[in-house]
Amino acid sequence: MKKIISLLAMIISILFMSSCTENENPDIPYIPIVPPLVEPTIKELVSEKLNELSLIEKVAQMIQAERAYITPDQVEQYGIGSILSGGGSHPTSYIDSADVWYDMYADYQESALKSTSEIPIIYGVDAIHGNNNLYGATIFPHNIGLGAANNSDLMYEIGKATAEEMLVTGITWTFAPAVSVVSDISWGRTYEGLSENPLIHQNLVKHMIFGLQENGVSATAKHFVADGGTIGGIDQGNVTVNEQTIRDIHLSPYVQAINAGVDTIMISYSAIDDIKMHGSHYWITEVLKEELEFEGFIISDWNAIHQLPGSYDEQIVTAVNAGVDMLMEPSDWESALSSLYQAVISDNISVERIDDAVSRILTVKYNRGLIDEPFARLDPIDYLYSSIHQDIARQAVRESLVLLKNNEEALPLNKDELIYIAGPASNNVGYLCGGWTTYWLGNTEADIGVGISISQAFSNVLESSSTQLVSSWTEASTVVVVLSEIPYSEGAGDNDQLTLTQGLAHPDNDQALLLAKQAHDAGKKVIGILISGRPLVLGDDINSFDAFVAAWLPGSEGGTGIADVIFGDYDFTGKLSYTWPRDLSQVGFTSTRSDYEESIVMYPFGYGLSYLS
Ligand code: GLC
Repeated sequence: MKKIISLLAMIISILFMSSCTENENPDIPYIPIVPPLVEPTIKELVSEKLNELSLIEKVAQMIQAERAYITPDQVEQYGIGSILSGGGSHPTSYIDSADVWYDMYADYQESALKSTSEIPIIYGVDAIHGNNNLYGATIFPHNIGLGAANNSDLMYEIGKATAEEMLVTGITWTFAPAVSVVSDISWGRTYEGLSENPLIHQNLVKHMIFGLQENGVSATAKHFVADGGTIGGIDQGNVTVNEQTIRDIHLSPYVQAINAGVDTIMISYSAIDDIKMHGSHYWITEVLKEELEFEGFIISDWNAIHQLPGSYDEQIVTAVNAGVDMLMEPSDWESALSSLYQAVISDNISVERIDDAVSRILTVKYNRGLIDEPFARLDPIDYLYSSIHQDIARQAVRESLVLLKNNEEALPLNKDELIYIAGPASNNVGYLCGGWTTYWLGNTEADIGVGISISQAFSNVLESSSTQLVSSWTEASTVVVVLSEIPYSEGAGDNDQLTLTQGLAHPDNDQALLLAKQAHDAGKKVIGILISGRPLVLGDDINSFDAFVAAWLPGSEGGTGIADVIFGDYDFTGKLSYTWPRDLSQVGFTSTRSDYEESIVMYPFGYGLSYLS
């Protein structure tokens, strides 16, 4: 179509030129005035395309299927607008290479271009801390650590690196960043949140979005709105705080995201005053689209509309009329397609609503270059787990670490000390990465194909001083104990027993804490490192440690980044973006509350020691 417009413009300019009379004065060279070729705007292209589509072709653009439930032939037959890989949904296996991913993507894309609408698909993945489904990709610290680092330039670099490691597979859409403001760390998605306090989001959200979108992939601000504000931190639960609190605390990151031009926003499973967000015309259309002038498109969450009242047909009508533009219906995509089409035919959904949704979707596809270059990709050799990306991740680890205790300058360690290291996360890269790594619920393998463990990284440092880790704590002068949570995601991570030995704490923590006490009582220097998706009540166990570090979920470069700081090559700079409760009664007591009192909590929002402090 573009070529036709350009050709027309050319013909017009030739006709215009021929109408010009030759210059009367032969001495002055005749230079014809050629009007510039006027490229159509995206808005014009979208409008042009929309007018070409039939109703069923329009409706098909609003459907997102999961790769396991749709074939390329079906994409060609139905002209589906989008496909996703859910957490851990690989083309054939978890060790699929970038080429295998790209071949899958290209197959779907070729089929989409052969559909009657000829519109490319937009393919989405949860690349939330690197392209974490892809084997061999750099795994960055989860957002809880990035909130502690609170470095906007670093957020951009991580977004850029993530975009690059997505584009090696051709995929151009990530369901990230989560902009959740977490009011209760019982929530299983606490680690996906940057902080309990939107002050941190204000400094970071837009830079992650810029990093992703300026480097070729669409970002998603999620989950709209107040996903982290449910009673008791219950995932997909109910929010009962008043609207002003929702606006001040939970809506403000979306203002950042919209100002940054975020392409998509995902709706939360949760409810406000028992009204499920996916059915809220007020919040989705009146607030997001009208008041905040969001111009991208709204996507529902995985089967989320099934939680709305009524039949499936009624759920489709409610969600789309509320303002949802694309339906993430992984396995029910055919039902969604026919139900949505029937809803328009029977006037339960207006054509104007469909046109609004499809225009938004097409605008994103044009803006991200999908229409012009549906098969673009980057070379994995240049970008996948590149040394540049490893360095960015390692810096992020260093800056995410928070030094909670350092009695008598127990840290930094010398590089020739006699060190014994133990604990469940001391020799396991999978635990360092947490949920949404390789698989939806995380990868518990010690070796995930990239990165080295904390003990391996420590060995490498000691080797440079011709020293090595000792094999018994009694021989050591220093004992390092690495405690852990087991990996989890979403509701599977909901937990109100937030201590070092209950709930989702790693079962080997008990043994590790016993060792720490024995070593401490024997006069050894004892260093604690906690690998976790949230603060955990430390209780009396903290007394067994001379120094204690919160390392969150540092990712594939966790070993090297932690070693850099523990041995003093770098200082601690991380500051808590979540309040650390003294006991379980303080869970939910956050710095956004008017009655917040720093002196009564274990460690307050913004706390963090350094070697110089
Ligand atoms: C999940 C999550 C959402 C994710 C989506 C696709 O249920 O709630 O964050 O993007 O499904 O995997």
